[in-house]
Amino acid sequence: TDRSKIRNFSIIAHIDHGKSTLADRLIQRTGGLTEREMSQQVLDNMDIERERGITIKSQTVRLEWKGYTLNLMDTPGHVDFAYEVSRSLAACEGALLVVDAAQGVEAQTLANVYQSIEHDHEIIPVINKIDLPAAEPERVKAEIEDIIGLDASNAVLASAKSGIGIEEVLDAVIDRIPAPGGDANAPLKAMLVDSWYDPYLGVMILVRVMEGVLKKGQQVKFMQAGTTHLIDRVGCFRPKLTQLGELGPGEIGFVTAQIKEVAQTMVGDTITDAKKPTATPVPGFKEVQPVVFCGLFPVDANDFEKLRESISKLRLNDASFSFEMETSAALGFGFRCGFLGLLHLEIIQERLTREYDLDLITTAPSVVYRLQLSKAAGEAEAQVIELHNPADMPDPNRIEEIEEPWIKAVIYVPDEHLGAILKLCQDRRGIQKDLTYVGGRAQITYELPLNEVVFDFYDRLKSISRGYASFDYEQIGLRAGDLVKMNILVNNEPVDALAMIVHRSQAEARGRHMCERLKDLIPRHLFKIPIQAAIGGKVIARETIAALRKDVTAKCYGGDITRKRKLLEKQKEGKKRMREYGNVSIPQEAFIAALRMG
Ligand code: GTP
Repeated sequence: TDRSKIRNFSIIAHIDHGKSTLADRLIQRTGGLTEREMSQQVLDNMDIERERGITIKSQTVRLEWKGYTLNLMDTPGHVDFAYEVSRSLAACEGALLVVDAAQGVEAQTLANVYQSIEHDHEIIPVINKIDLPAAEPERVKAEIEDIIGLDASNAVLASAKSGIGIEEVLDAVIDRIPAPGGDANAPLKAMLVDSWYDPYLGVMILVRVMEGVLKKGQQVKFMQAGTTHLIDRVGCFRPKLTQLGELGPGEIGFVTAQIKEVAQTMVGDTITDAKKPTATPVPGFKEVQPVVFCGLFPVDANDFEKLRESISKLRLNDASFSFEMETSAALGFGFRCGFLGLLHLEIIQERLTREYDLDLITTAPSVVYRLQLSKAAGEAEAQVIELHNPADMPDPNRIEEIEEPWIKAVIYVPDEHLGAILKLCQDRRGIQKDLTYVGGRAQITYELPLNEVVFDFYDRLKSISRGYASFDYEQIGLRAGDLVKMNILVNNEPVDALAMIVHRSQAEARGRHMCERLKDLIPRHLFKIPIQAAIGGKVIARETIAALRKDVTAKCYGGDITRKRKLLEKQKEGKKRMREYGNVSIPQEAFIAALRMG
């Protein structure tokens, strides 16, 4: 393909502003699919994505318009996938900025727009949903100019739903987005943008050729991974899979090379010719590391093998989560899994539950701490370890320092909820960095410890603001903190699944909360049962479950009778679900309920 006739672009949009609908329209208008085939949104090809309205894996389609080849790259729309987004953007020369004409510019949009600007993109504002009665295109144009600082005078007004402005969008792409550069005679240099597992074709790799030519039958080298592969298929999606002989500079397409697992492909890697390699890899490569960890256990111990198989299958298609076996006295056999963020965790958990029909228990999410240990007897050097499971916490006497990851969060919130949101951030050890107003909403910038955010921060934010707050974050590195392991003891025995790492200042409140909850969940016994939260040997919160008297009648239970009765019924189901803690039989459901409530 003649380079001057290629245009590569992505679509930046806040969730629900109409990215997928617009993409579908562009495909339809350029003749990629018939009306009937359009009945499903084609870019969001996973059920969960569609249901939650979130695009997770990127896909690219090649469109033909007025003699030009347009590559439309779909990017994931959530902060957990920020690195994938950055690679997709690096594969393009421009972007459509889709803004809902009734909603205006949102925080999430901003983060992606700034990234796009950093990649020197030509950005075309598209004001979507102009069919809505509440549409205010002029106000939104002004917002784009004031908040983002982009000229919006030639924004395209569109309605993806009604099919208005679609040709104008395509024309603007041709006229305003520059053609890609790249020398066809230079050694091959292609960026690995994304990869996924296809049951028929194996691992498929989305590439953007920067220089040189990528051909079927070529022996290539993945520079970061250090592996060599034979390219056996080259093609693109229109959106149907189409095989091609080669991809030249500026082109985006896919290749296959008989690779079995996506874990062998790293997003951002450089693919070059094995015999005639490029001297410089594509800049910006980063190895992705899980940042949030939790334990996943089957509710029914018999499901352990099924869980192992299901997790292994999911991992085939998502190299960004990790897992290793874990055992817990309270919950039995399970896996410790690492994720890119909370949403990523939820997605995997949901897929296991839904696609693999597993009933799971998830332990409280934990971040990765870095511990500086003092020299143990016989050791030559002081040790630094990474901790992502409270159960592995070493002896506190050996810990010189604990560091925890911090994030910079940008929150947009309507003025009336500002006070409550500030309080929430303050309570979570936040450090306020900035407070300004944009388009009638407050924009707050806070530095926060990630471990306070993984603990129900997002839910609280949404409920306090009645859903109106939006939230975006980036990691800003590790900082030392006064962190301790808090144990929960039932009848003086620690329950491993409930242990957590908390900041000393939060320990008492969290401990009290957990004790109160367990008090309601654990059935009475013939003796008194103390429930305690403790740091080391020091008890910081305590509740007691009164003894069951001989003459007990239903009314003695008080409050939560139905839940307790359910627990007791479950208890009868079989001894295997009961765990013994210092003579106390705790139904597994009690742990599950305690953990489910966050
Ligand atoms: P994510 O995939 O979650 O990023 O969302 P999205 O930005 O792709 O939004 P999507 O295209 O799924 O559209 C969100 C909702 O807005 C859907 O209910 C669409 O039908 C609706 N929508 C999209 N474009 C228009 C439009 O031009 N007018 C109106 N009225 N509704 C639209």
